[in-house]
Amino acid sequence: MKDKLIIFDTTLRDGEQSPGASMTRDEKVRIAKALERLRVDVIEAGFPAASEGDFEAVQAVANSIENSTVCGLARALDNDIDRAGEALKGANSRRIHTFIATSPIHMQQKLKMSPEQVIEYAVKAVKRARQYTDDVEFSPEDAGRSEEDFLCRILEAVIDAGATTLNIPDTVGYSVPHEFGATIAHLIERIPNSDKAIFSVHCHNDLGLAVANSLSAVINGARQVECTINGLGERAGNAALEEVVMAIKTRHDVFPCETSLDTREIVTCSKLVSSITGFPVQPNKAIVGANAFAHESGIHQDGVLKNRETYEIMKAEDVGWAANRMVLGKHSGRNAFKSRMNELGFQFSSEEELNDAFVRFKQLADKKHEIFDEDLQALISEVSTDNDEENVKLVALKVCSETGETPCATVTIRIGQDEKTGSATGGGAVDASLKAIEALVKTGATLELYSVNNITTGTDAQGEVTVRLDKAGRIVNGLGADTDIVIASAKAYINAVNKLQSQDFRQHPQSGDV
Ligand code: KIV
Ligand code: ZN
Repeated sequence: MKDKLIIFDTTLRDGEQSPGASMTRDEKVRIAKALERLRVDVIEAGFPAASEGDFEAVQAVANSIENSTVCGLARALDNDIDRAGEALKGANSRRIHTFIATSPIHMQQKLKMSPEQVIEYAVKAVKRARQYTDDVEFSPEDAGRSEEDFLCRILEAVIDAGATTLNIPDTVGYSVPHEFGATIAHLIERIPNSDKAIFSVHCHNDLGLAVANSLSAVINGARQVECTINGLGERAGNAALEEVVMAIKTRHDVFPCETSLDTREIVTCSKLVSSITGFPVQPNKAIVGANAFAHESGIHQDGVLKNRETYEIMKAEDVGWAANRMVLGKHSGRNAFKSRMNELGFQFSSEEELNDAFVRFKQLADKKHEIFDEDLQALISEVSTDNDEENVKLVALKVCSETGETPCATVTIRIGQDEKTGSATGGGAVDASLKAIEALVKTGATLELYSVNNITTGTDAQGEVTVRLDKAGRIVNGLGADTDIVIASAKAYINAVNKLQSQDFRQHPQSGDV
């Protein structure tokens, strides 16, 4: 029997710390349900002390997940731990993850605390967390640049205080695989009570080594890996869940452990996270990129046709690519639509919401005859954002685009109860439309990113547009999908404007206080 490797997904916490990737409560619940279908062991749902909204999002995830453990992050502060404990009350299985920095540079410059004080805070935090749950994880932040002797001291002390998982983060992505693996082996060997806890790793990808470092740690005794879908996360991101899991599965001859994930759910999860956060997946990304299983050159194709193993080390269907098929069409009825939406993890809150979504589905099916799961995911995003809480709504858009003429757009939007119409010219139809909207809403924000991806294939595919706005350092991503990319762009811009208006203040967990 092989050991179990625990997969701890932090897409909803560290992933959400990527600029503009913040998610609403309902979006978090949808992703959490997809992660549960993927059978991840632990879902880190957020940092409850960040804001009221973050608290409610963690609470909503805790209340809607049955099989995975739901975790909340807390600094080594009483209030953070109490907020996490409260938010997780409704979970079937709950974990509190508390952390404090241990590297000389973080202790001196950020915390302004002595090593002794850091140990004192860590022990106190773990003891307090144990009052809410028996499942307590402790992380020495910036362990990758911490002194091994100090790590041994603090980790021994927190195990005695009741920590059951010790997570070793390479917070700034500084480590290299043989060195990081050796650190894990040394810690397990040197800490006298190390057998009382599971060793975990949390690697950042600043040098592109997050997955390699995580796997090296597994070979050296780590039995939990923290990772995110598509490698989302602070700066260059975290270790990509799909890469870690498929490496362990494909090279079972090398690794002493196995995961219990249903890998056929990987692609669906990847597309969902990408469409909710507005972070597209590059085509050559391992496992989940559009080209990951495409064989372009004649030589490769010939080999694959004779025997797939000549050039394929994994089966596309094992990670869920085969699921990319037509599921519904123009003639599909309301029940078929409702049940597929339910299978994708979306429950309608009322008959009215179902009717509204079904009307949108029929309109889409008129424009594009084959409706794929990806189209339904985009429709879910639209239904769930286009609600009464959205202050600004797109009412109508007309564009003129003609060779030799200056493109222009006339847009009508509703702001609260008022309808407003405005026109603008621009370098193209998209530029003119976004300028017309901005002239009406006057956010004053800077457009940091504009990107279009087709959701499925073909010229009738829906284009999914991501717009990133930055207003005085507050960054939001807006998303919009439509078979007409100018309309998709307008929807994305308006979505970003609504997010700018609604976002509450959030405390960043690693920003400076303890
Ligand atoms: O990267 C990091 O150190 C973290 C901790 C909060 C675990 O995300
Ligand atoms: Zn991190």
